[in-house]
Amino acid sequence: MDSPFGLLAELTYRCPLACAYCSNPLNMADYSDELTTGEWRRVLGEAAGLGILQCHLSGGEPLLRRDLVEIVVAAHEFGLYTNLVTSALGLSRPRAEQLRTAGLDHVQISIQAGDAAASDRIAGTPSFQRKIEAMGVAKELGWPLTVNVVLHRYNIDRVADVLALAEEAGADRVELANTQYYGWAWRNRDALLPSRAQLEAAEAVVRAARERLRDRMEVIYVIPDYYSRFPKPCMGGWASRQLTVTPNGDVLPCPAAQSLPLPRASVREDSLERIWAEAPVMTAFRGTDWMPEPCRSCARRELDFGGCRCQAFQLTGDAARTDPVCQYSPDHDLVVRAVEAANAASRPADPPLIPRPHRVRRR
Ligand code: SF4
Ligand code: FES
Repeated sequence: MDSPFGLLAELTYRCPLACAYCSNPLNMADYSDELTTGEWRRVLGEAAGLGILQCHLSGGEPLLRRDLVEIVVAAHEFGLYTNLVTSALGLSRPRAEQLRTAGLDHVQISIQAGDAAASDRIAGTPSFQRKIEAMGVAKELGWPLTVNVVLHRYNIDRVADVLALAEEAGADRVELANTQYYGWAWRNRDALLPSRAQLEAAEAVVRAARERLRDRMEVIYVIPDYYSRFPKPCMGGWASRQLTVTPNGDVLPCPAAQSLPLPRASVREDSLERIWAEAPVMTAFRGTDWMPEPCRSCARRELDFGGCRCQAFQLTGDAARTDPVCQYSPDHDLVVRAVEAANAASRPADPPLIPRPHRVRRR
């Protein structure tokens, strides 16, 4: 067992946006008893002690935490490299200056599309202009800037607009991430899944941009695994390099693992070190001993670790099966059928998108 490298600190699931591709859990109200500033300080100290180097401050919208500056100060004091993963709503110039002084190292701003009308429609609220302004503030204050967009059926045809926007904003990196179907995105999968023709067109645009922007902006393209022959090596292997702490202090090997039928582990009840080493939620699928066939005897088992446990559970009801994305999986037809539906010549009208709620209702 190695030390983890990165911590995803999900500070809150509250969010001013209502994106239908959101990967936050459906039962967000169960997470409304958020960790206090003091509890986050302890968690960040324990994370540093465990060998974690990078801390991604995420949500929901982390700027909705009034104590975000104090949390950044704590992470900085413990020597963690901090990345703010934000919609940028709430990143006013004074707040940004406070975060800069507190030691925040990197800013990642999401947009929903490359033009205002589409971006605001997908976000469920007028937000595009404020995002552009916040990108300007981030650059003025000297942060490295990543622009992130989640791609799906309703924005992938305009990926060139996103690249142009990121270039104009002076972004150091643009991350084009095809939707991962967890949480609200899973509910909306049949509406969001793009067609093969859409993907191929987008990939040609991305290849050309990578070539053209080689020395100026890194272009990351996260491939949609429904269209791959092999699954992604999710999280670099279960409980191998990353861990997630949810707003109420649950500790998970990945942000979607709350959906699996595994015993909870919480920083409110145990240390991060003991949870990482011993909690069943961490040990259940660590390494390769848990693997069924065909993974067990497959030459790729140390490359993709049998794919994504959460996806296996969502599609088959059994987290210990081979990820159905894999062409060798006995359940691969579940993915084939979804892809066929997305490509059907006589596709019925798209099912309506179900937006995630803006706010988490307190219990
Ligand atoms: Fe990966 Fe398992 Fe498929 Fe082999 S059989 S490629 S290890 S998911
Ligand atoms: Fe949980 Fe892939 S998202 S293992």
